[in-house]
Amino acid sequence: MSDATRRPDLSGRTLEACLEPAIAEGGDKSAAARTVLALATACIGISDLIALGPLAGSLGAVTGGANADGDEQKELDVQANDLILAALAGTATAFYASEEEDAIMTLDPAGSIAVAVDPLDGSSNIDANVSIGTIFSVMPASPDGASASFFRPGRDQLAAGYVIYGPHTALVLTIGDGVGLFILDPASRQFVKARTNLAIPVSTREYAINASNYRHWTNPIRLFIDDCIAGSEGPRGRDFNMRWVASLVAETHRIFSRGGVFLYPADNRPGYQSGRLRLIYEAAPIAFLAEQAGGAATDGTAPILDKIPTTLHERTPLIFGSLEKVNRITGYHVDPAFERSVSPLFEQRGLFRA
Ligand code: F6P
Ligand code: MN
Repeated sequence: MSDATRRPDLSGRTLEACLEPAIAEGGDKSAAARTVLALATACIGISDLIALGPLAGSLGAVTGGANADGDEQKELDVQANDLILAALAGTATAFYASEEEDAIMTLDPAGSIAVAVDPLDGSSNIDANVSIGTIFSVMPASPDGASASFFRPGRDQLAAGYVIYGPHTALVLTIGDGVGLFILDPASRQFVKARTNLAIPVSTREYAINASNYRHWTNPIRLFIDDCIAGSEGPRGRDFNMRWVASLVAETHRIFSRGGVFLYPADNRPGYQSGRLRLIYEAAPIAFLAEQAGGAATDGTAPILDKIPTTLHERTPLIFGSLEKVNRITGYHVDPAFERSVSPLFEQRGLFRA
């Protein structure tokens, strides 16, 4: 194959070209699309740094600082946040919220957009050369100011996406009309459309959870996982597979590729009463993408996109992915004896459990 045939055909497929119609619409839609382009540019810079690994310095080194939620800040967390802030200068971004910033920042007071980001998700994986990512959420700025721009339901998002830095760098994006997949072409340094209308398969046999927390979980989560582990000998009557990368973006990308469900539930450890993940810049954008791809996202009882945050770094339990599985897990929360109605064999489930 010659170099010429191996090069992707970029005509009409670059991110910029794909966002042109939205930019032409004017108003918030246009401002959001331009902001997405700026975020994508920042992510190309982050991707460059990550590709260098240790040659770029000690990216996984702890800076000595901690973010507002008490997590250790790594060198790459800080550099990614700086790159995003630099890229947003000159856009219509009025307010900026980041995992790495204690408070909401005002960038352009006349701007019409509010941006929330997790600049570097999965940072425990930096030194291990395992996939990590950037997550972003784009809201209309509220006339009532900074807090009101973010303390609102995730359904108000104009755009949401993540960039995964893996064997290739990919952007998964929604501007509210389905989900598109863009791959970073290293030669042209452009994100190029690879797929449109990504859809999460409705049913699945794969789940992702940090099972080391089993003893801290609530009953509905334990029951759901117990039934998965029991496999073909349990009430579900079939076997399941488990994965845990410890990078939310990597789990999300797998779920977008082949289905599955992700759980980071609330648990009984101190500080984990609302789970681990942050509502504004982790759960809400992932939930928007999941719903746009035909999946679902819940905290166990309420859809993530209906939740209204009251603090910037608020956590939420997060369960998302294939619709059938998310509905089933909600069922376990509403009625812990959920399976009884599903499998007559296990009508006596109480007899099998302490
Ligand atoms: O951002 C938080 C995060 O790193 C996610 O990317 C990931 O899903 C989770 O935390 C990993 O949690 P744990 O350390 O419990 O495995
Ligand atoms: Mn994160």
